[in-house]
Amino acid sequence: MSASHLIRQSHRWVSMVFTLTVVANFVAMIQGPPPAWITYAPLLPLALLLFSGLYLFALPYVAKMRNGRRSPA
Ligand code: HEM
Repeated sequence: MSASHLIRQSHRWVSMVFTLTVVANFVAMIQGPPPAWITYAPLLPLALLLFSGLYLFALPYVAKMRNGRRSPA
């Protein structure tokens, strides 16, 4: 399994963890002000999504640059 495939899979599954933490925030808010750990729970998965997402965004451009360099002038 390549590194980019692993990062894409991680991005997909961390996005589900992030979604659950956001839903947990809404559910907790119905019952009053949520504890701080629930309020801040989405931040770690969101940070992981940001970095893996920026990596996924850059992938096609990096591949294009590499292919361009390899092709004859
Ligand atoms: C925080 C900044 C984020 C950035 C910069 C980002 C960026 C990206 C990029 C560039 C892709 C690949 C698109 C493609 O190749 O067609 C992607 C895929 C995806 N993103 Fe994000 N994303 C972010 C956050 C999120 C969040 C918050 C969610 C959902 C809660 C999410 C869910 C997904 C899913 C499900 C995919 C498809 C993964 C796959 O191919 O299996 N992302 N994202």
